Amino acid sequence: MLFWRVKSLDAIMANAEKKSLHRSLGALQLTMLGVGAIIGTGIFVLTAEAAQKAGPGMMISFVIAAFVCGVAALCYSELASMVPVSGSAYTYSYAVMGEFVAWLVGWALILEYAVAASAVAVGWSGYLVGLLDHSLGIEIPHALANGPYAGGMVNLPAIVIALAVTALLYVGTKESATVNAVLVAIKVTALLAFIVIALPVMDDANFQPFAPLGAAGVIGAASSIFFAYVGFDAVSTAAEETKNPQRNVPIGLIGSLIICTIFYLLVAAGATGAYGAQPLMSAAGAWLEPGSTAMAARCTEVAALGEQPLVCSREALAHVLRAIGHPAVGNALGLAAFLALPSVILMMIYGQTRIFFVMSRDGLLPDVLSKVHPKFRTPHVVTIVTGIGVTIAAAFFPVGRLADISNSGTLFAFLMVAIGVMLLRRSEPTRIRHFRTPALWLVGPLAAIGCIVLFLFLPIQAKLVFPIWAGIGLVVYFLYGYRRSHMAPGVTPPAE
Ligand code: ALA
Repeated sequence: MLFWRVKSLDAIMANAEKKSLHRSLGALQLTMLGVGAIIGTGIFVLTAEAAQKAGPGMMISFVIAAFVCGVAALCYSELASMVPVSGSAYTYSYAVMGEFVAWLVGWALILEYAVAASAVAVGWSGYLVGLLDHSLGIEIPHALANGPYAGGMVNLPAIVIALAVTALLYVGTKESATVNAVLVAIKVTALLAFIVIALPVMDDANFQPFAPLGAAGVIGAASSIFFAYVGFDAVSTAAEETKNPQRNVPIGLIGSLIICTIFYLLVAAGATGAYGAQPLMSAAGAWLEPGSTAMAARCTEVAALGEQPLVCSREALAHVLRAIGHPAVGNALGLAAFLALPSVILMMIYGQTRIFFVMSRDGLLPDVLSKVHPKFRTPHVVTIVTGIGVTIAAAFFPVGRLADISNSGTLFAFLMVAIGVMLLRRSEPTRIRHFRTPALWLVGPLAAIGCIVLFLFLPIQAKLVFPIWAGIGLVVYFLYGYRRSHMAPGVTPPAE
């Protein structure tokens, strides 16, 4: 009885046709949208945490994470081109595996989007603090720029940016394709500058030892750096606004992922080779977990000795450039991150409100969440609820922990998409597929296994948060959604 209340694909499509959004996006714009959502805190900040887990072997971690995202993107493409409507993995699951699984996926997507927004807000804060310090000489007190995990009190800049983005969304700011293109250009230029400066000064010695923490360290770092690739699925959420989605959505999904992968591999190689990426050990030689108070204390200790390892930096890429003799470019890269990261927060919170909106439209969450503001025409209630949640998490938790928790939800959603695409091939083999996942019976299982393995290699806290979160979701479902669902017997959906 796991697969009850399956929504028919035809009904979903017919509904979407009825009130479909204006189809204006082309393949290039979609790819840019993907790149805009992907490049963010992962590469700009979490490179340091990946190094702490894997050392120079993090280059392999980037490859592993890209591979898992690549096979998952191929699965997404088949579903997104067949069901080009909003709601992404949640909607696909509703059509293939029914309401219960769809609810779990939607619930997991809250982790993906909202917690990712918090992580990016914290990442942005690190860049702001560094930028103010290095370019204007203004020092924000440690206690006000760090959560308790790093010996501070609260991360004030992260709070400010999370609230500012929420306010923008409240009044209906949507990122226009033009603004997105400008921000993508800024981010890509910053990464290009990094690559051009760092690659020529690579030193072989910096790659030794290559994997000081072994294969487990490399895979563990892949589980975390997976965050850097998250966001390509945002392309699928724009399917309803895309011209010729059957062709353009797969191009956008896979194209944006390929572009980012190339940049990431070159940046990881540059950071490692030009500056070094060895993990920091305690005075007694024990490994330290990134984001822990012990790690923060050890970083302060070595800083007093004049050492500034990559793994301690909260603005990894800017730090490398400054350290290898390019302080001005380092500051410019910091400025680029400062300007561009808020758009990633915006996309994540926006994606979250869309998911809540669709779930509430299906009756699984209270109607009040899909209430639209009379003046701004925005789902203001859900925007405020999301914004407050994002702000609280950003205020107190470290970036890496947040990213890992977000990854746990994303991996679950990707797993369900991989399973869904295979089930649908069996249940509806003759339905037209404008994009067919190549070698599905190889790619699908690889995607599913990849997601499970990355999940298993997440730090224990993130692995625990997911089942607890899912458990809360189950309670909410059986107390509310199960009876209020528009597919429940006797419930008539409100007239549109
Ligand atoms: N991939 C996005 C980032 O790294 C979420 O910020």
